[in-house]
Amino acid sequence: MISFVWAEDENHNIGVDGHIPWNLPNDMKHFKDVTTGHPIVMGRKTFESFPNGPLPKRLNIVISRNPEYQVPDSVVLLNDKGKLSQYVKPDDEVMVIGGAGIFELFKDDVDRLYLTKISHAFTGDTKMIPIDYDKFDLIEKKEGIMDEKNIYPYTFETYQKI
Ligand SMILES: NC(=O)c1ccc[n+]([C@@H]2O[C@H](COP(=O)([O-])OP(=O)(O)OC[C@H]3O[C@@H](n4cnc5c(N)ncnc54)[C@H](OP(=O)(O)O)[C@@H]3O)[C@@H](O)[C@H]2O)c1
Repeated sequence: MISFVWAEDENHNIGVDGHIPWNLPNDMKHFKDVTTGHPIVMGRKTFESFPNGPLPKRLNIVISRNPEYQVPDSVVLLNDKGKLSQYVKPDDEVMVIGGAGIFELFKDDVDRLYLTKISHAFTGDTKMIPIDYDKFDLIEKKEGIMDEKNIYPYTFETYQKI
C-alpha cells in the first residue's frame, strides 16, 4: 500500500528554500509516529533537507535521475519508481514523503493520505500537488494541540481511497 505523508499551509505550500516553512514540533512527532517502521520514499532534495542524514528506524529510499548520486550504504537509490517493489514487501505500507515531484510520480498509486493542515499562510516556493479528495474518505480528523512551541492552528487528517 502507498501512503502520502505531508504538511501544508492554507495555500498548499510545503517548502521554501529547501526546507519546511514552519516550526511545528508536534507535527514532527506525528510524522515520526506515522512513518517509523515503514519504508519512506522521497525526492533527492527532500533527502538533502534532513540535517542529520537518513531518518532512523525506517528504510530510506531516495529517488533521483542521477544514477551516480551518492547515498550512505543504508539508503536505497532509485532512478525510477519501477524498481521500488524490489526493496519493499508486498504488505508494507510505503510512506511517500515528498516533495512535489515525488507526490506527482505516485499520485495514481496512492491509497492513504496523512495530511497535516496548518491554518496559516507562509512564504513558500514548493506546493503540494492537487489531490482529488472526491476519491477519498476522511477516516480520521484530530485538532492539533497549540502551546508556546506549536503556535499555529493545525489538524491531522487521514483519508482512505474509496
Ligand atoms: N511540508 C512537507 O510535508 C514537505 C514534504 C517533503 C518536502 N518538503 C519540502 O519540499 C521541498 C523539496 O521538494 P521538491 O519538490 O523541491 O523536491 P523533491 O521532490 O524532494 O526532490 C526533487 C528531485 O527528485 C528527483 N526526482 C523528481 N521526480 C523524479 C522522477 N520522476 N524520476 C526520478 N527522479 C525524480 C530529482 O532528483 P535529481 O535532481 O537528483 O535528479 C529532483 O530534482 C523542500 O523545501 C522540502 O523541505 C516539504
